[in-house]
Amino acid sequence: MTNFNHTPVLLEEVIAYLNIKPGKKYIDATIGGGGHTKRIIDAGGLVLGIDQDEDALEFVKQTQVLNIKNKALKIIKGNFKDIEEIAAENGFDAVDGILLDLGVSSYQLDSSGRGFSIRHDEKLDMRMDKEKELSALDVVNTYSLQKLTDIFYFFGEEHNARQIADEIVRLRKKKEITTTKELAGLIERLPHRSEEIHPATRVFQAIRIEVNNELEVLRNVLEKGVQLLAPQGRILVISFHSLEDRIVKQAFEKLKKEGKGTVITKKPLTATNEELSKNKRSRSAKMRVFEKGN
Ligand SMILES: C[S@@+](CC[C@H](N)C(=O)[O-])C[C@H]1O[C@@H](n2cnc3c(N)ncnc32)[C@H](O)[C@@H]1O
Repeated sequence: MTNFNHTPVLLEEVIAYLNIKPGKKYIDATIGGGGHTKRIIDAGGLVLGIDQDEDALEFVKQTQVLNIKNKALKIIKGNFKDIEEIAAENGFDAVDGILLDLGVSSYQLDSSGRGFSIRHDEKLDMRMDKEKELSALDVVNTYSLQKLTDIFYFFGEEHNARQIADEIVRLRKKKEITTTKELAGLIERLPHRSEEIHPATRVFQAIRIEVNNELEVLRNVLEKGVQLLAPQGRILVISFHSLEDRIVKQAFEKLKKEGKGTVITKKPLTATNEELSKNKRSRSAKMRVFEKGN
């Protein structure tokens, strides 16, 4: 891997809300390029870093961003849906904090070559975990008209879901759709409202969510995460679109009603103007925090 670019979002807020105490344990369940983890370790925390993308872990191991020999850091390839098992196997039970910084990294979007971005012409793939079978190529070329319509509508909130699915099914009968450019192009050619975002943005989001089962794994991890926390431990979740944010909000409300703790953020935290001016990706970031009770 030549280039791993990723600026951590809401970095100061994450550090402030994690309330890091030297020698205590933290799980960074989406370690990515290690930006948040580095600051947790600098503040004296011990970190278990998890990511399902082996390229991200390779970067963290190979570069000087984090000192891999540092005893304060353990790195594991895995999916955070298995957080309980991964934590238990690595002696990270009763942790003081858990961070989930959802979605894809700038590296995955811009340099991984895995077809996450409309801006590059790459093979349709979108798997964060390269060992998984289902790829964007399979979704686009084998899913039924109805299934495509549903994922575009429910995971992309795309109003033209049916029309786009129709066009995909029509064109793939002639020739398999294999690249991001072909997919983005066929959507671009359909009538669409002029918006700030590219007309294929929602469809790309929907396919990525489907390929990586993103909403299901998020629903699964929040309760398990709270169980892993020590009393007064906190779970912080940074989401990048309304579907994720709604799941986090509702899960935290449910945990509160069940008497498991307190929602610390009445409203989600967002980036300051200063951060927005430096990092475009922080525009859609929303962070919610839950603190476990006694
Ligand atoms: C936004 S990036 C994290 C960036 C990181 N906080 C940093 O500062 O560099 C999200 C990372 O989470 C990983 N990821 C997403 N969903 C995951 C899951 N269910 N299990 C494990 N890792 C996941 C992605 O592969 C990606 O590397």
